[in-house]
Amino acid sequence: MKIHLFLIGILFIFILKCTCLEFDSTDNYLIDCGSRENTRVDNRVFLADNLNSSILSTPETIFVNASSDSPSSIYNSSLYITARILHGSSNYTFPIKKKGWHWIRLHFFSFFSEGFNLSSAKFSVSAQRFILLKNFQPLNVPVVKEYAVNITTDNLLLTFTSSPGSFAFINGLEIVLLPGKVIPDGAPMINSQQPYQSLQAQALETVRRVNMGNEDVLPQNDTLSRYWQSDKEHLINTNLVEFVSNITAVNDTSGNSGLIAPLSVYGTATKLDSQLDPNIMINMTWSFVVDPGFDYVVRFHFCDIISHSPDSLIFNVFLNSVLAVRDLDLSNKTSNVLGAPYYVDVITRLNDIPNLSVSIGRSVVKNAYPNGILNGLEIMKISNSKGSLDRLDAEIQTTKPASTTKVWLIVALAVGSFLIFIVLAFVLIVMFRRSRRRDNAVHSGEDHSIIINQESFEDSKHPQIGYRFTLLVVKEATDNFSENLLIGIGGFGKVYKGVLRDNRKVAVKRGVCQSQQGHKDFRNEIEMLSQFRHRHLVSLIGYCNERDEMIIIYEYMENGTLKNHLYGSNLPKLNWKQRLEICIGSARGLHYLHTGSAKAIIHRDVKSANILLDENMMAKVGDFGISKTGPEIDQTHVSTAVKGSFGYLDPDYLATQKLTEKSDVYSFGVVMLEVISGRPVIDPSLPRETVNLVEWALKWLRKGRLDKILDPHLVDEIEDESMQKFGETAEKCLVEHVADRPTVGDVLWNLENAYQILENHQRLKERNQVSNNQVGQSVSTTHYSMGSLGDLENVSMGKSNAATNNPQQEFASTAQLVALQAQVLALTAQLQDQNTIDSQPPQAPTLPPMGPLPLGAVPQAPDLSPVEPSSPGAPPQVPKFQ
Ligand SMILES: *[C@@H]1O[C@H](CO)[C@@H](O)[C@H](O)[C@H]1NC(C)=O
Ligand SMILES: *[C@@H]1O[C@H](CO)[C@@H](O)[C@H](O)[C@H]1NC(C)=O
Ligand SMILES: *[C@@H]1O[C@H](CO)[C@@H](O)[C@H](O)[C@H]1NC(C)=O
Ligand SMILES: *[C@@H]1O[C@H](CO)[C@@H](O)[C@H](O)[C@H]1NC(C)=O
Ligand SMILES: *[C@@H]1O[C@H](CO)[C@@H](O)[C@H](O)[C@H]1NC(C)=O
Ligand SMILES: *[C@@H]1O[C@H](CO)[C@@H](O)[C@H](O)[C@H]1NC(C)=O
Ligand SMILES: *[C@@H]1O[C@H](CO)[C@@H](O)[C@H](O)[C@H]1NC(C)=O
Ligand SMILES: *[C@@H]1O[C@H](CO)[C@@H](O)[C@H](O)[C@H]1NC(C)=O
Ligand SMILES: *[C@@H]1O[C@H](CO)[C@@H](O)[C@H](O)[C@H]1NC(C)=O
Ligand SMILES: *[C@@H]1O[C@H](CO)[C@@H](O)[C@H](O)[C@H]1NC(C)=O
Repeated sequence: MKIHLFLIGILFIFILKCTCLEFDSTDNYLIDCGSRENTRVDNRVFLADNLNSSILSTPETIFVNASSDSPSSIYNSSLYITARILHGSSNYTFPIKKKGWHWIRLHFFSFFSEGFNLSSAKFSVSAQRFILLKNFQPLNVPVVKEYAVNITTDNLLLTFTSSPGSFAFINGLEIVLLPGKVIPDGAPMINSQQPYQSLQAQALETVRRVNMGNEDVLPQNDTLSRYWQSDKEHLINTNLVEFVSNITAVNDTSGNSGLIAPLSVYGTATKLDSQLDPNIMINMTWSFVVDPGFDYVVRFHFCDIISHSPDSLIFNVFLNSVLAVRDLDLSNKTSNVLGAPYYVDVITRLNDIPNLSVSIGRSVVKNAYPNGILNGLEIMKISNSKGSLDRLDAEIQTTKPASTTKVWLIVALAVGSFLIFIVLAFVLIVMFRRSRRRDNAVHSGEDHSIIINQESFEDSKHPQIGYRFTLLVVKEATDNFSENLLIGIGGFGKVYKGVLRDNRKVAVKRGVCQSQQGHKDFRNEIEMLSQFRHRHLVSLIGYCNERDEMIIIYEYMENGTLKNHLYGSNLPKLNWKQRLEICIGSARGLHYLHTGSAKAIIHRDVKSANILLDENMMAKVGDFGISKTGPEIDQTHVSTAVKGSFGYLDPDYLATQKLTEKSDVYSFGVVMLEVISGRPVIDPSLPRETVNLVEWALKWLRKGRLDKILDPHLVDEIEDESMQKFGETAEKCLVEHVADRPTVGDVLWNLENAYQILENHQRLKERNQVSNNQVGQSVSTTHYSMGSLGDLENVSMGKSNAATNNPQQEFASTAQLVALQAQVLALTAQLQDQNTIDSQPPQAPTLPPMGPLPLGAVPQAPDLSPVEPSSPGAPPQVPKFQ
């Protein structure tokens, strides 16, 4: 990925300028070889070459006729019914009036003829100083070979040389002068800092010319008589794509009049099928067989024929899995003209793989809707240092060390890395031993890169891993994976509801066994889940890996996902208090993940769909498939490939690939916005500026207009202060700069504070109903009990001006401090290890620091859990403070 990022820096993109191209018919030679009369092919007349012998310097040639009907072909097949046989070495010489790039198209078809067996022909062809074909044996299907040569002399010399004992033949010939820009001058080169520049001095061979959108474009529909083959047969997975066509949407203001590529190429496209789960990370990939040992120019043609407004299409372009163009924003490149054709050239070297793959993948740029498009593709082989384009001359570089110094360098490196390896292994063993001694029950600080294999799954080293279930038991529990018990479906596979023999309800996640990645995530999730148990984390009950199955069994969460309770379902809407409780619960789960063991665990996929609710609407965080152990003590981050869910991804992590706990905080901030606004993170059905929840909500939050984003279902219970606090906290989580983001502990603290405010408010309201005149009178700074916390609200309301001016000073008032400390004490007393079912975590989570609060005065709490959500009405007994 680093290389990719680096590449982006050096990639420049060649935009099609408004240089009005014209098709110049100078030097336009079309020859139907071996024919006695001119042939009309696709509205072009191919001259019979025996009528004009001045072109051919070799008089002794033989004309042959096909003895049976010629095959169907993309070109009018009348070209392939005659051929000219050439012996020895023969030259075609074409006078060139205009110097520059010319196409040389050679038509071959080894038909059966009386007296001549064309299939035994074997010959080489060269043009100027370039070898186009070497020991070539045409097949019994029509073949068109297209080459581009920059002709700098007055004549084009085309030489056919037959191999010893054989002969050469040709059916048709085209020499066409090319308008500018059809062949690039140079282009950025993948895996190199220097762009490829000497292209004019080379010859090119068109290896593939493809029209995306599953439609052929025939030569008669192209001004330059190119054949654009349909892309379908090259697509790796047609299920992920959609073919689109809308030629009227092409707005060709560039004046290239279809010379770069015809409108029928730009008017059709293959696009990513975004009807699929928008969170799924998908690619569309085409694969082409090409000769290794050459450089290739790849030209991507794009035209946004699908969007209704600019800025909607941003995607990544890959060449052989290497990022070629990052976050290509089409409307930006075309000055916001929708439907304007645009192309990008990239050069890549193919060293040993005989395959060139092209992928379009969704960009994870902050507000890009998962989409991508490709309209056309051209792959051109570049002649190599021998001036050859034939595969027999391929220059495959072997990685042989060239000199002894290199050998020494390698030996030194090997010895060095071996020593480092030994030291590392030693350190690891020591650390591993220590962590086991420290805590036998919980595996936490273990090196995460150790891959669990089949045996270690089963051995006693993981006693806390839960049970390994047999497939039979799982099938029994889920009624043989009955579709009636299906409760969820996603990129990983399906989730079923099940009942075990002991009547325990379980959720059974059955992964689809398709990729290496799937196996990795499966193991990762089991490994992660087996390390911790917490009231607010979904617990692992068992797993099954029999017969390549990837099944994980969790505790069953009666009320499904938080997402389903917020939008897109008929479930009753949650009230504000429930929402707060859910956020507090999931923040606790995350806080435990981040601080509950020696090394933080970063969830990486915090989203409303991964927060599950049990029968009491208690929130638990689930899905640890891509979770990762956090940075080492002496490091600040883990560098890793970006993974996560669209819409929830921390932009800083995206940009730097540096993963910290703060990325989870960002995602959690997004969840908080979903909770308060009751709408999806990305909603493409909305007007453009509101599609992205984060963008839209932050805009209003910054203006202090929480009411603008509030879920209509919450309007009835507007309770300004706790909601305001909630909104502010969400806003802080979404700060771009990682260092400025609060920790989950801070977030938790604020949420609990909001919850207190809400409770007090509600209690006040109840009291108000009893007597209207007792409220808010008795502010005392020395004597508090939970029962009189209503007074706290008055204090903070009184200070609200100062608080908004300086959020850090929120708790500055002594009265507040005292009150808060009282709360903390109460919680500490109440809680004591209530949260962890398992043996205690290896390291007690510390109290989150909060502004200028003098933390030294507060005893350390094992976890923050001030109010038991299930019993909010009954405040615990609190010892008097001071
Ligand atoms: C092919 O060429 C023949 C003879 O020149 C002509 O009659 C026929 O119409 C052409 N077909 C097409 C599809 O252009
Ligand atoms: C033969 O080729 C020459 C050179 O291109 C051209 O000037 C001449 O008109 C051609 N003759 C015929 C009969 O096509
Ligand atoms: C090829 O066909 C033409 C008529 O189309 C005929 O005049 C000519 O003699 C044939 N040539 C051979 C070698 O059969
Ligand atoms: C073809 O052209 C090459 C290069 O000019 C020359 O060496 C060769 O003798 C020519 N062959 C014939 C048959 O004219
Ligand atoms: C063809 O090559 C010559 C010399 O290398 C160069 O000056 C010229 O610009 C090239 N023409 C084109 C159209 O690239
Ligand atoms: C291609 O050309 C044919 C006639 O030459 C026309 O009927 C057809 O509609 C064209 N197709 C496209 C895609 O432009
Ligand atoms: C094709 O594009 C035009 C212009 O953008 C648009 O008005 C029209 O609705 C599109 N047609 C289809 C079938 O999408
Ligand atoms: C094409 O783009 C130009 C701007 O370059 C715009 O003025 C024109 O209206 C567009 N035409 C269509 C049909 O969209
Ligand atoms: C798309 O494919 C490329 C190359 O194989 C890979 O690096 C990238 O992660 C993929 N992107 C997605 C979104 O799957
Ligand atoms: C394209 O993006 C660049 C850099 O972000 C910006 O400077 C430029 O104004 C954008 N152009 C258009 C047409 O949006």
